[in-house]
Amino acid sequence: VKVTFIEHGGQEHEVEAETGLTLMEVAVKAGVPGIDADCGGACACATCHVYVDPAFKDVVGEASPMEESMLDFASERQDNSRLSCQISVSEKLEGLKVKVPEFQG
Ligand code: FES
Repeated sequence: VKVTFIEHGGQEHEVEAETGLTLMEVAVKAGVPGIDADCGGACACATCHVYVDPAFKDVVGEASPMEESMLDFASERQDNSRLSCQISVSEKLEGLKVKVPEFQG
């Protein structure tokens, strides 16, 4: 499925995401700047923070309580903030766009 990562500066990276991976793994593989993923996907660092396109909010679903508490450590948290390592890629995400927050870019 195609997903697009948008850097803070507006640079877009459209990548072919393999289903079953997490969005964080897809971003790291594609070399998207700003997705550091320091903890390797353990929901323990918040450096894979992204803003999900509001149109996809329901498709992507809600953050788990563990992710919620980690997001409290993320700077510039917004309503559509998610940790990309907690979002798994599926067919439903075709066309998804996510933004990378400024402090990570
Ligand atoms: Fe660390 Fe997502 S990679 S919280």
